[in-house]
Amino acid sequence: MSTAPESTAPEPARAAPGVTGYDELPDAIVVVGADGHVRACNAAAQRILGVARQELIGLPLADALPLADAAGRDWWQVTNPFGGLSTRTRQVERVLQLPDGRYVLATASYVRAERGAPVDRLVVCLRGTEARDRAEREHADLIATVAHELRSPLTGIKGFTATLLSKWDRFTEDQRRLMLEAVDSDADRLTRLIAELLDVARIDAGRLELRRVPTDLAALVRKRVEARVVAGVDHERFVVEAADDLPEVWVDPDKMGQVLDNLIENALRHGDGTITVTLRQDPDGLVMAVTDQGPGIPPGKAHRIFGRFWKGSDRGGTGLGLYVVNGIVEGHGGRIALVPPPEGGARFVVVLPVDDPTADIL
Ligand SMILES: Nc1ncnc2c1ncn2[C@@H]1O[C@H](COP(=O)(O)OP(=O)(O)O)[C@@H](O)[C@H]1O
Ligand SMILES: [Mg+2]
Repeated sequence: MSTAPESTAPEPARAAPGVTGYDELPDAIVVVGADGHVRACNAAAQRILGVARQELIGLPLADALPLADAAGRDWWQVTNPFGGLSTRTRQVERVLQLPDGRYVLATASYVRAERGAPVDRLVVCLRGTEARDRAEREHADLIATVAHELRSPLTGIKGFTATLLSKWDRFTEDQRRLMLEAVDSDADRLTRLIAELLDVARIDAGRLELRRVPTDLAALVRKRVEARVVAGVDHERFVVEAADDLPEVWVDPDKMGQVLDNLIENALRHGDGTITVTLRQDPDGLVMAVTDQGPGIPPGKAHRIFGRFWKGSDRGGTGLGLYVVNGIVEGHGGRIALVPPPEGGARFVVVLPVDDPTADIL
């Protein structure tokens, strides 16, 4: 939140409508003089407080900004801005309540002519809590979804281990093996889910670490496809078409491998038929497309696929794959889009910049 530092605190004389730009701010700014009366305010203050500017100006602080804390106490009596400690410079952001019950996020800057001098001006900033409320709701939803996603494989594991422990002798060797295999695959699923959640957290916090090196993307594609073939997928299902003389790209090979694995996994899991990976260069950068011949993604759902936890069907995925893919591609300064081919199926197109990102630093 913009707690105006003392040096740049708005001059009340300049806070006139249409002159300063304060009226364009989404946050309410109210400037109170040393006499405790409002000297100036911006347009957002009128909107948030529901009082016209002419009426606000000249009002005593407590009447102009009737804010109460969580205990219902008058905020200005609690903080005593013109009387309290002479070293105070501000009040940090707080949720306060207006008389009509609405909440606002409030900060106050104490402007003094010099350190230790009496408060010359009080600059109060108010902001609606909608954005914060939305972020909190999304956070709570995310935790609920994560808990749910973690619980289902755990329920499976617990079910089998409990059964095996209590009725070990009643099962044949083969039955026990089957149950342990189910436990094993559920444990794998949990491990994958947790790895993906960590990636999601890093992406959301803007802390995805990329170790970029010049990379031959065509070789990387062939390697990831080969890994699928070794794991048992018929090699005839894959076609790799790479233009000659493709430049190397500065990418993190592990992370780009993760992008490829996810797109190929999706084509196998949700798609059908031949999976074609093409690589070519165009003026935008290196273009990589992964195409399959499955049912594709319904146009009405296309905008949701890159979201967290969105699953079109229940085929065992977590719904995090494309979110992570998008985060990794954007982290490389690239873009990813769903561009369905006219003949049907799904096609994901990734465009990566080819320039060396360190070129202008060195
Ligand atoms: N190649 C594809 N063909 C059809 N649908 C797809 C394809 N790739 C992704 N989808 C849809 O997008 C959803 C989200 O994909 P993703 O984020 O990888 O999650 P997950 O694969 O874990 O379900 C999938 O559940 C699926 O419905
Ligand atoms: Mg997936």
